[in-house]
Amino acid sequence: TENRIIMAFESSADETSVAIVKNGHEILSLETATQIKSHQRFGGIVPEVASRHHIEQVTILADAALEDAQLTYADLTAIAVTQGPGLVGALLIGVTAAKTIAWAHNLPLVPVIHLAGHISAANFVKPIVYPALALMVSGGHTELVLMKAEYDYLVIGDTQDDAAGESYDKVGRTMGLKYPSGKTIDTMAHQGQDVYHLPRPMLSEDNFNFSFSGLKSAVINLLHNADQRGEVIDHTNLATSFQAAVLEVLLTKTRHALNAYPVKSFIVAGGVAANHGLRDGLTTLLADFKTVTYLPVPIELAGDNAAMIGAAGDIAYRHGTRGTWDLNADPTLEF
Ligand code: KG4
Ligand code: ZN
Repeated sequence: TENRIIMAFESSADETSVAIVKNGHEILSLETATQIKSHQRFGGIVPEVASRHHIEQVTILADAALEDAQLTYADLTAIAVTQGPGLVGALLIGVTAAKTIAWAHNLPLVPVIHLAGHISAANFVKPIVYPALALMVSGGHTELVLMKAEYDYLVIGDTQDDAAGESYDKVGRTMGLKYPSGKTIDTMAHQGQDVYHLPRPMLSEDNFNFSFSGLKSAVINLLHNADQRGEVIDHTNLATSFQAAVLEVLLTKTRHALNAYPVKSFIVAGGVAANHGLRDGLTTLLADFKTVTYLPVPIELAGDNAAMIGAAGDIAYRHGTRGTWDLNADPTLEF
């Protein structure tokens, strides 16, 4: 059978990324320009700034991706692009670039849901075997996603408020850490002790949903109250206590979902999947599920990148999904 070579675009937040992916599981090239430095001074992503960076980078990265893979547009099978969710102005740059290239080179256009991209990055480790369950943890989302078959996504658990990554970033900001602070808190968490008692939201509820805003508020109040009383809070211990609370909730809900749905693969995906404590906790947890293959997305592909969009784009392409020339960015796109 013929090879499928997909060029993929990702521009939903603060990374501009273009990749070329072969048959959904082999990265021929991956070019990413991060804008983190430009947003850091504001403590979060500034949408207008993000759009400007995407515009400046996208064609340069597309050229570089082709050159790095030693290919031309004539070698491509399709163009995949993140349609949403994300910042509308940022998404529009990727969507417009993808549409233009697809139209100019007479290639099929394949819209991709960003979250499907995160999950599909597991295919770079080993082919996902279905039925599969994914824990999707990023800056914008915290979901348990059941896939009874390929390209069949069912959200069985979701956050009621903040996403896990968002709570790391907000807690980090209160602790005076640079944005995004997930990785820093993860490192600190390994150096301290769990001495502060923090809530485990929704832990005892009989569902697969999450809530992180109460935990975030508890940390902020702890710091604020200590400040007013002139007490000192040990930030390293606070990081340990915070991460312990987040992980207990994520791991307990995952265990319940694995008990409820006998799946063949389990995937952890999204930016927070880079968390070492979470990865270790899941390794231990999955040891209790001998028939489930554990597929953690590689740390370097856990955050936003276009290779994952190429992997998801290949699945969508095989299932016949095509975008028309009036394809628009959709900031609230969901499964
Ligand atoms: O998937 P991603 O790159 O972007 C979104 O689609 O949101 O995820 C970014 C999020 C940020 O909130 C960042 O703080 C978090 O992932 N993150 C981490 C770690 N590395 C990145 N959170 C916890 N531990 C980490 N090691
Ligand atoms: Zn993402």
